[in-house]
Amino acid sequence: MQVVAINASPRREGNTHLLLRRVCDRLQARGIETEIIHIGGKPVHGCQGCRTCFETRDRNCVFGSDLINSCIGKMLEADGVLLGSPTYFSDITTEMKALIDRTGYVSMANGNPLAGKVGAAVTAVRRAGAQHALDSMHHLFSVLEMPIATSTYWNIGFGAASGEAEYDSEGLQAMDNLGNNMAWLMHCIQTGSRQHPFPESDRSRRMNFIRPDCLP
Ligand SMILES: Cc1cc2nc3c(=O)[nH]c(=O)nc-3n(C[C@H](O)[C@H](O)[C@H](O)COP(=O)(O)O)c2cc1C
Repeated sequence: MQVVAINASPRREGNTHLLLRRVCDRLQARGIETEIIHIGGKPVHGCQGCRTCFETRDRNCVFGSDLINSCIGKMLEADGVLLGSPTYFSDITTEMKALIDRTGYVSMANGNPLAGKVGAAVTAVRRAGAQHALDSMHHLFSVLEMPIATSTYWNIGFGAASGEAEYDSEGLQAMDNLGNNMAWLMHCIQTGSRQHPFPESDRSRRMNFIRPDCLP
């Protein structure tokens, strides 16, 4: 089994990377291969809502010139997805937001091949706002029917300068537990889905709550 981890911090070897590395070490110790991809600081395009992915249905976003399509490809191949972003103004970085929006739409346009894969997220923060950033990443998993791995506390590591998260021993403990729990969930799903395959979902209804009798 394999987990693809995506680091959306512009600081390649910063605190987010340190936290992701910690989770990946635990996953590897439990027989799960890991790969960390860095998208932070790279030019990535946001979703423009063109819905071309719903026409082509080729598991790709129409913007082929940046890293996002290769990330989507890796996520589709993997059994688990680990997202990491520093907290920027109480939220995720621009790069992570682009990844989430475009991955979400491409997956939904293609019958949601990410359903059933395990998701987990971590964030590095100097002081406050991490909860909201963490929630932003969890939203992708919620909508795409991806079971979310959890830990003993919030998946947050404190630190300002690169490497400072190393001194947040409770944060590191949460990362270790997250790695263990994610591996456990993936193994359970792999074993259990032999007898209990992921159910077929009904996505046929789509409403926007505009009543026809209110239209001009
Ligand atoms: C643009 C920007 C916005 C930030 N916003 C916050 C914030 O809202 N709350 C906070 O505690 N730290 C904030 N920080 C600090 C980072 O979250 C912190 O330094 C983190 O460890 C960076 O992780 P990295 O080393 O992986 O890049 C911000 C940093 C930057 C550059």
